Amino acid sequence: MTGSEGSGSVSPTAHYTGETWVRNGLSHPQLRTWQGRVLNGALALPLAASRSLGGPTLEGLLLARHRIIDSILDDLIEGGVGQVVEAACGMSPRGWRFSRRYGDRLTYIEADLPAMARRKREALERMGSLSDCHRVVDLDVLRDGGPGSLEALTADLDPAKGLAIVTEGLLTYFDAETVEALWARLATVLGRFDRGVYLADLRLASPDRGASERAFALVLGAFVRGRVHVYRGDEAETEAALRRAGFAGVRLHRADRHPAAAAAGADPAAASIHVVEAEA
Ligand SMILES: C[S@@+](CC[C@H](N)C(=O)[O-])C[C@H]1O[C@@H](n2cnc3c(N)ncnc32)[C@H](O)[C@@H]1O
Repeated sequence: MTGSEGSGSVSPTAHYTGETWVRNGLSHPQLRTWQGRVLNGALALPLAASRSLGGPTLEGLLLARHRIIDSILDDLIEGGVGQVVEAACGMSPRGWRFSRRYGDRLTYIEADLPAMARRKREALERMGSLSDCHRVVDLDVLRDGGPGSLEALTADLDPAKGLAIVTEGLLTYFDAETVEALWARLATVLGRFDRGVYLADLRLASPDRGASERAFALVLGAFVRGRVHVYRGDEAETEAALRRAGFAGVRLHRADRHPAAAAAGADPAAASIHVVEAEA
């Protein structure tokens, strides 16, 4: 899948997640869109039905992954990492929240395909959140070098200050080959920094996926108007693939077992995703 194909199917989900973060007290009203409200309304009934049967919900999955990434990123910054690139940022509030929390101790760069980046930049401008330390740039994560690539975006950052790159809600839109090529480029980019860490959520192929999990994946696929890719490996294979891509330290956090996900309640959807923490 190319970047521009990705943008066509991904954008509705960015609106949906943007609304989810606002409704759950994680975001600012300027980061919600009318499209997000409509999508949330449309999915409310099937998800309420799933919840009432004790099944997985999209909201449970989203909150679990978001809180776990927040928690690991907080630890990295407390541990001295001073620069963050949130690629495929959509309408995520993380840049706004972390910039308020850490001020000029932290450089936070949000990045997305041009149309989404513009929308995000305008919202953050209205919120008065943009500064030298918090900005939004155009990026296609699949572009291999040149303007608008990860390589160009990180070229001016300070290797001594460390860098965390986050992608949230992105990898399910790409097939395994595309994901692995992206990992290899991320490992190379991050390898230039004294400390370089990649954080992302990932859905692994799981042979014991139950009926409700399969139904949930179908709803999710219909919602993003395309197939939701699960990564082909189990935990050990995924770890090996990340090492082959060039990451030296790899941890896979199963979302339902991470303490930060407890705040999102015990939603069974959390068991279907992992958060990748990979150090170059
Ligand atoms: C599911 S949304 C997630 C948004 C945000 N991370 C969140 O969790 O709320 C996926 C985002 O990926 C972006 N995207 C899709 N393909 C991309 C690419 N090739 N390069 C950069 N961003 C991309 C979309 O524009 C969209 O904002």
